[in-house]
Amino acid sequence: MSYNTILTETEGKVAIITLNRPQVLNALNDELMNELGTALLKFDADDSIACMIITGSEKAFAAGADISEFGGPEDAARIGASFHAALNAVAALPCFTIAAVSGFALGGGCELAMSCHFVIASESAVFGQPEVNLGIMVGYGGSQRLTQRVGKGRAMELIITGKTINATQAMNYGLANYVVPQTELLDKALSILKVCHEKSPIAVGNSIKAINAVWDENVNGYEVEANLFGECFVSGDSKEGIAAFKEKRKPHFKGH
Ligand code: COA
Repeated sequence: MSYNTILTETEGKVAIITLNRPQVLNALNDELMNELGTALLKFDADDSIACMIITGSEKAFAAGADISEFGGPEDAARIGASFHAALNAVAALPCFTIAAVSGFALGGGCELAMSCHFVIASESAVFGQPEVNLGIMVGYGGSQRLTQRVGKGRAMELIITGKTINATQAMNYGLANYVVPQTELLDKALSILKVCHEKSPIAVGNSIKAINAVWDENVNGYEVEANLFGECFVSGDSKEGIAAFKEKRKPHFKGH
């Protein structure tokens, strides 16, 4: 399948989605968000894919929502709802997803990175929520996800001043898990995912669901975890993992 605004490739069990609107620093417009959603669903449904990477160019992961598409109040509701839904869907993916960020991750770009399960930054990465400079505010989950990641005081400062932070600060804040040289960005993401895709897909997917339950006020996260643990415990993957341990061999998980 070919897209206009993203590139897709696979490397073993890993799908790599590259945002590709270089002329506007990968600003997120409707078409890109639709294509990203389609690609994520397609890879998530593909049994040969275990994990995903979302990345951009060396200069920009994404410089925010596409300002040129901002119009009247109807756009605020439409764009807000569709971007919210898209980023909530990314966060809820059972397929482990890493944002590999180089250059600008601003506004919606930072929000997209934070919706991934975790973030690896190149040394050039710049993170921020500069919406206040435009007389608007974070609109795609940033007030929630940034606060979850960096805590209230830092989120308040970043969102209210619109200031940006570099890769090292982002790592110190807990926004990025690792900082690596630009040339090692994808290799670092791939090496982490290689470890992950040797694990049981049920165990990985259920762990993601349990962690996400922390921020779902409609559920009791402990109960969610207990139920998900039960599902894992009776799975074929659990039998295989325990048998492999006893037989002193590597497990071969099938995802059921
Ligand atoms: N939406 C639409 N177009 C954008 C964009 C965005 N969020 N961010 C950058 N672009 C476009 C610029 O308009 C420019 O287009 P042009 O060449 O037709 O003028 C092109 O991308 C390159 O950007 P430019 O500003 O020339 O690059 P720079 O290196 O000087 O600055 C940034 C980079 C990221 C600091 C700057 O582009 C910027 O501040 N962008 C907006 C960030 C933002 O406010 N995001 C939140 C939006 S809600």
